[in-house]
Amino acid sequence: MRAAQVSKLEGPEAVEVVEIPEPAAYPGGVVIDVHAAGVAFPDVLMTRGLYQIKPELPFVVGGEVAGIVREAPEGAHITAGDRVVALTMLGNALAEVAVTPTQMVFRLPDNVSLQAGAGILFNDLTVHFCLRNRGRLAAGETVLVHGAAGGIGTSTLRMAVALGASRVIAVVSTEEKAAVARANGATDVVLTDGWLAAVKELTGGRGVDIVLDPVGGDRFTDSIRSLAPAGRLLVVGFTAGEIPTVKVNRLLLKNVEVIGAAWGEWVMTHPGYLTEQWAEVEPLLASGKITPPKPVLYPLERAADAVASLDNRTATGKVVVTLR
Ligand SMILES: NC(=O)c1ccc[n+]([C@@H]2O[C@H](COP(=O)([O-])OP(=O)(O)OC[C@H]3O[C@@H](n4cnc5c(N)ncnc54)[C@H](OP(=O)(O)O)[C@@H]3O)[C@@H](O)[C@H]2O)c1
Repeated sequence: MRAAQVSKLEGPEAVEVVEIPEPAAYPGGVVIDVHAAGVAFPDVLMTRGLYQIKPELPFVVGGEVAGIVREAPEGAHITAGDRVVALTMLGNALAEVAVTPTQMVFRLPDNVSLQAGAGILFNDLTVHFCLRNRGRLAAGETVLVHGAAGGIGTSTLRMAVALGASRVIAVVSTEEKAAVARANGATDVVLTDGWLAAVKELTGGRGVDIVLDPVGGDRFTDSIRSLAPAGRLLVVGFTAGEIPTVKVNRLLLKNVEVIGAAWGEWVMTHPGYLTEQWAEVEPLLASGKITPPKPVLYPLERAADAVASLDNRTATGKVVVTLR
């Protein structure tokens, strides 16, 4: 089969398309003919050996797929021929065939294409975990998201209102990304430059209830400043590179919280959680209450460019590689 593989930890440019044997089926594993696979920021980090998960070299890039089941264990909730989305968590996705445990495979609603489906699980389930579980989003609250035109960002824009928010404010670095944020459902969009003052003005000085932050870096203290009383700042990632520090007097003085949100870690330590999440998210997708992602597509031959687009900050929305 063809696959996008990393054999040297030299960044996205080192991703190459190779011919390798199909992965072997195993008991409890589902064999999937992959039509499309999602790319996310951890894939960038993994091409440099900088992510917490460090597979042995060489490894196949990517953590999520959409495709058709070729073979499933007897009695499983899915069967041969089903259209599915699945996590491979992490690696082994950008390949023509993937094998992954049954509990990581979900039937895709008919109204969602396989290409869009490849962009759902990793980001939407992270955002669902962040807002529902860690952020305790309550009906009518205001959510702000940094990096709003990125993968996690557009997921937040697509999902927050369906999960109860009354307003979703997008923070983005360029006008082009502002248009992407609006197209994904942002109620308001502000540019990174001067974002705090703009948000204070938009909220009449009150601030926001939740900040979902996949970016980190030097805007972190301002994110705390942007919180309303009892607000929650969700630490999701550090695409800006720098890991911020918190002066905890700011938390005390404003009665606010900074909360870590590591979805993968939660999934690994809470058996059955993925199934619970899908039971809540799938009906929202099927009913159109959450719109599917509108991914930017790359053919497998351009897998290196797909991963590089997240590295060089040109990616908008979800990036998906097509295999069939
Ligand atoms: N905690 C979890 O469970 C979890 C799960 C999944 C992903 N993540 C993390 O979430 C973060 C976002 O992932 P993603 O897939 O959404 O990434 P993405 O699509 O590349 O979006 C990230 C956004 O970060 C902003 N950014 C600011 N400085 C940047 C820089 N120096 N380089 C690149 N982007 C920069 C960009 O927005 P602007 O240009 O508008 O600033 C970009 O759109 C990553 O750190 C990832 O590891 C965490």
